[in-house]
Amino acid sequence: MRLTGKNAVVTGAASGIGRETALRFAEEGAAVVCADRDAAGAEAVAASIVAGGGSAHAVTADITSESDAARLAEAALAACGRVDVLVNNAGVTILGGVAELSEADWRREIDINLSGAYRVSKAFWPHFARARGGLILSTASIAGVIAAPQDAAYVASKAGLIMLTRCMALDGAGAGIRANCICPGFVDTPMFDGFLAEQADPEAARARAAGRTPLGCIGTPRDIADGFVYLASDDARWITGTALVIDGGLTAGLPA
Ligand SMILES: NC(=O)c1ccc[n+]([C@@H]2O[C@H](COP(=O)([O-])OP(=O)(O)OC[C@H]3O[C@@H](n4cnc5c(N)ncnc54)[C@H](O)[C@@H]3O)[C@@H](O)[C@H]2O)c1
Repeated sequence: MRLTGKNAVVTGAASGIGRETALRFAEEGAAVVCADRDAAGAEAVAASIVAGGGSAHAVTADITSESDAARLAEAALAACGRVDVLVNNAGVTILGGVAELSEADWRREIDINLSGAYRVSKAFWPHFARARGGLILSTASIAGVIAAPQDAAYVASKAGLIMLTRCMALDGAGAGIRANCICPGFVDTPMFDGFLAEQADPEAARARAAGRTPLGCIGTPRDIADGFVYLASDDARWITGTALVIDGGLTAGLPA
């Protein structure tokens, strides 16, 4: 078990990558606070960890709210006494190019994917600084590394999240606070299903995504959760400011 004795908070823990990360952290011995705006979903994941003999708590929190972020930090500290790892994973995708996106949609995407990570990290920062240690992990995307058509707000939010990670790594280094993110490629989650549903032919779009991935298939939530387990483990103790790409080779180079 690689995370025994660690206490972790995962946002967006009700579904997809966040759910799998919460479950994998618990399997590796961590106590996990499952946070999501989806109360029933967060509770179901926490209950399944507890049913498996692990330690978990559910907190309903919307990361667009500063007061929810503060309440999440308070609740996590009350439940665990100390928080070692925060995973900023909650996110949404709102498709559209600059010409199509309404300003409201643009703001909403940035508010959740980028400002949400800032907000929750800021809420935990004083605790990490007092403890002289803490790890902030985030789910960015390969969309923060290479652009995609008709996805301007999402791409900008994820590029911002990679740079926010690097800024937090620099700002926190002297206080023992580290920050890293993972950039997943296409991963089979409800969010990916939603993206496919907006395509003219969803099955063809799924096959195209797999075909564009050099390793020949789209990823599973576990492929990403295992990356988070590594980054949360002591094996990654000298890593900060890193954006770890886990994408089946999608961004390695041009297709043949
Ligand atoms: N699936 C992919 O292909 C893929 C690829 C790259 C990056 N990502 C990123 O991975 C993360 C997880 O995505 P997923 O694919 O598991 O999606 P998902 O839709 O399955 O899960 C997202 C979770 O975030 C929660 N959430 C959304 N907005 C929230 C808010 N304001 N406050 C609290 N919780 C909120 C949702 O309720 C949901 O439980 C996202 O940041 C996403 O951008 C996904």
